[in-house]
Amino acid sequence: MKVSSTLIQSGTANNGETKRHHKLIGTTYQNNSNSDYTEKIEELCKTFKYKENRNHYWSEPHQSLLFGSPIYEQASAEQKLALNHLHWFANYNYISNSETETVILNQVTGDVFHALGYETVAQELAMETEQEHHHIKAFRKIGLMTAIALIGKDELSSSFQWNSYDSTLGKNFIPTTKYHTLRFVAQRMFSSKKQYYSQYLKELEGKKDFAFKMPTTGIIGRSLKHSGQNFFTFNWGGGSPFLACQFYALRMIANMHLKNLEHPIAKYYKKVEKSGEFIPAPTEVSHYHFLDESFHTTMSHVIAQDLYKDFPKPTAYEKYLGNLAIYLSQYGALGGLSAVLPHRYFDDDYLVMEIVYRLLQAPLFGMSSDAALEWMYKCFCCEHEGLHLAQRNRQKLMSELRRFFADVDYLLPVNREMRIMSSRGSIDDTIQKNIKTFKQFSRLVANKN
Ligand SMILES: [Fe+2]
Ligand SMILES: [Fe+2]
Repeated sequence: MKVSSTLIQSGTANNGETKRHHKLIGTTYQNNSNSDYTEKIEELCKTFKYKENRNHYWSEPHQSLLFGSPIYEQASAEQKLALNHLHWFANYNYISNSETETVILNQVTGDVFHALGYETVAQELAMETEQEHHHIKAFRKIGLMTAIALIGKDELSSSFQWNSYDSTLGKNFIPTTKYHTLRFVAQRMFSSKKQYYSQYLKELEGKKDFAFKMPTTGIIGRSLKHSGQNFFTFNWGGGSPFLACQFYALRMIANMHLKNLEHPIAKYYKKVEKSGEFIPAPTEVSHYHFLDESFHTTMSHVIAQDLYKDFPKPTAYEKYLGNLAIYLSQYGALGGLSAVLPHRYFDDDYLVMEIVYRLLQAPLFGMSSDAALEWMYKCFCCEHEGLHLAQRNRQKLMSELRRFFADVDYLLPVNREMRIMSSRGSIDDTIQKNIKTFKQFSRLVANKN
């Protein structure tokens, strides 16, 4: 790997450490290049048919939509299977949104590493981007085919009216002038680093309405919200080696969140494989994705925890932004709990309520609108086992994040110890918020009917 010696000399890492993490990056790149997990996902995506997989669980039953809620307790065997499949759909829909954001930001920061002479890092990131394209395609195709089979096509598209990426694109985004003002401020902060400015970011900015085009419904978008994401994108790609590395601390949150969901599915895959029984295609996709993502996680880990030490110490501005990104993610992507999706850590919104509402009226459950709303109240607005399970899953993720951030030296204690995440997401708070959202949701439904 070609490494810029002047940069290393001015960094804080010693030679042994530098050698160690560059060796790990080289090995990860080699192993990822030699693996065929993405090809396997591509093949499974091509041949997927819902009817061939519909009679099997795709993960353990506790990884099901509405698990532990009063509806789940009363559901038939067939309905329980459907709830298990819809859990896969809902989670991978969120993951595909997050990976769409990653695709852009891998390229933005990858070009900074390229300009710095960190070719292996840049090549690995380019390969990861390519892999994400295939992951996203498989998640969307399999997820949508499943949801259409269980909920219905028109019903599903009305659910997505709440998804800001699909329907309100452009409306809530930072106005271009505001973006350019913030960009100007950031540019002044690292004017000496112009030579490392991301070429990909330059191309993006050249496009008309760039400030309006960033997706915002994945983990990164939820963390930074509309205006923040554009501003941070400029900072991550603006030529500061420290900030290019810092993006990977945020990406690590996405990687660990994914692992929180996917590791149990990968374990389920092994169990079914060992038993010699039929392995559903979505379970296989999760298993191979888990393996592909282990390379990505290693990269996020090494860049966020070690590689930044190759470079000069962060300025006060860079440290502030690095802390701000993690701080905001504790509110946006990790600051809540779901009563119906035990691996989702933000507040239940109209989108998830609409999906449940439509599902309960689909032939599989066959409820009237009133009955559906009555059951929804019991599931979203009252304490049940599913909320306790969600809380345990969230606690596990928080402990893992704390372990990881303990070794990131520029972080303030509020981030290192995930204090915001810890102070939010209680069951009581979730129920109170859900009562409010559900009331508004029911009013909207009544107005439409
Ligand atoms: Fe992926
Ligand atoms: Fe990834």
